[in-house]
Amino acid sequence: MKLNSQNPWLKISAEDYEGHMSAPNVMQLKMLSEIFADVMNGISPKSIAFLGCTTGNGFEHLIGKDIEQIVGVDINPEYISVCRKRFAEKLPQLKLICEDLSNVNFPDSTFDLIHAALVFEYVDTDMLLSKISKWLKPGGIMSVVLQLPSETSAPVTETPFESIKSLVSVIKLIDPLEFKTLAQKQGLEETTNEIAKLKSGKSFSVIKYMRKAF
Ligand SMILES: C[S@@+](CC[C@H](N)C(=O)[O-])C[C@H]1O[C@@H](n2cnc3c(N)ncnc32)[C@H](O)[C@@H]1O
Repeated sequence: MKLNSQNPWLKISAEDYEGHMSAPNVMQLKMLSEIFADVMNGISPKSIAFLGCTTGNGFEHLIGKDIEQIVGVDINPEYISVCRKRFAEKLPQLKLICEDLSNVNFPDSTFDLIHAALVFEYVDTDMLLSKISKWLKPGGIMSVVLQLPSETSAPVTETPFESIKSLVSVIKLIDPLEFKTLAQKQGLEETTNEIAKLKSGKSFSVIKYMRKAF
């Protein structure tokens, strides 16, 4: 494990993260879990990777499903440890990897579904798209949540959780059109594109892609 100790995510405790994400003026934890429930609705992936899995938000929608392999990746060891405590028993097929995504590798064509919600904001877009494209089976799905710029709300909302402020210097909002072009270059074809809006004024692009057969 080669974690970059400069990464601000390593300095945000699980308690602060969840406190911030469920604060009344943020409310993103619930929204992200609901988005993942929607992604799972009507599909039956046998192998899933959840990139930037935090403490396992949304994993509750996987319990009792006929899934052979579930992999969660996150850079923060405390999030991984909380996630393991919450879900190891309920999801015996779960494998958790504490690693920087830039160092993670899986064999080609491993997954039917790769979910990456509010993760591209913190990693190199091309790097991760090219990895996901290889890791997906032909016909496999990549589901992505991107935070959209807002005129009324800062990229990182103010809450009493001071440690979260360190994200202000690293978060990069991605233009969904630019993202679509980059994804297409990696053989990922957009299939659905929706907007999720929060009361705070923040909006999110919720996009699904299918990995073309080469
Ligand atoms: C906003 S949270 C993701 C929310 C989560 N996907 C959900 O649906 O609730 C971003 C997560 O990405 C992780 N992360 C950020 N940069 C990373 C990197 N380079 N490698 C692995 N994980 C990273 C953070 O530790 C954090 O848990």
